Amino acid sequence: FPATDCWLNTPELFGHFLKPRLHDTHKGSYGRIAILGGAEGMGGAPVLAARAALYTGAGLAYAVYLKNPPSYDPVSPEVMFRAAHRFDFSADVTVIGPGLGQSPVAGNYLARTIASGKPAVFDADALNILSENPALQFSFSERNAPSVMTPHPLEAARLLGRDSAFVQSDRLNAGRTLAEQFNAVIVLKGSGTLVCSPDGKTVINPTGNPGLATAGTGDVLSGMTGALMAQGWPAWEAALAAVWLHGKAADVLEKERHGCVGITAGEIAPKARFLLNELI
Ligand code: APR
Ligand code: MG
Repeated sequence: FPATDCWLNTPELFGHFLKPRLHDTHKGSYGRIAILGGAEGMGGAPVLAARAALYTGAGLAYAVYLKNPPSYDPVSPEVMFRAAHRFDFSADVTVIGPGLGQSPVAGNYLARTIASGKPAVFDADALNILSENPALQFSFSERNAPSVMTPHPLEAARLLGRDSAFVQSDRLNAGRTLAEQFNAVIVLKGSGTLVCSPDGKTVINPTGNPGLATAGTGDVLSGMTGALMAQGWPAWEAALAAVWLHGKAADVLEKERHGCVGITAGEIAPKARFLLNELI
């Protein structure tokens, strides 16, 4: 990967981590993931991410709410709900951001996630809080656990202290700058999602379509990425595979339906599961 190159994302880049399950395994073998978010009025986001994590093979998924967790979701009873004050960061991977909000309490859990030393995916409001807090940015850059950040262009712009037109005019530069600055794998979302590593690798993703431009698809992507990390994948390959599968799932749905209008976020992960099993 010479620093000037940008590669096309294909399963060849992450295929060596696609392994059939061994018989003598149990749910603990496939990792526990916690989705931290779900502030008042945004309770659906962690559920979307947690369901996506299960569809991507995670052994156990928790949806952790800042306040008032539902006791269970009848539509996805596999997901376990917890209140944040009872959460101890003992899951293998934390995904923080889906429906998190930007309250001081949310900032406190972000600080603890950063300091936890556990692999983590940072999305949505976790990124917005981070962009306004230099002290958190400093502790982030000191992390030596695997980290993935999944900004859309506006979230990337806030992290860079610029506007989204700046990001979109040179996405490669924006993604690479953030990867180096935060020592994290950056998934700069949007048409032609970029995946950038701190050591200068850049990959552009060819899958996906405007059907993904609908509420909650980002939450699904963060859950899928975290699920692969929970199964032992490095952050880089987990991000590449999740981005590729997420986009490809939308492409298959578009084909089946003779158009991409009306795809919903909850449909992406079940289709991605089919594609993942097919690749294995
Ligand atoms: N082509 C390909 N992919 C696309 C396209 C497109 N035209 N449009 C969107 N996508 C993909 C992105 O690459 C990304 O994976 O859909 C996903 C959208 O993710 P987000 O922008 O994070 O959207 P969403 O899940 O609704 O975010 C929920 O979190 O980021 C905040 O402000 C956001 O409050 C909102 C919440
Ligand atoms: Mg989002």
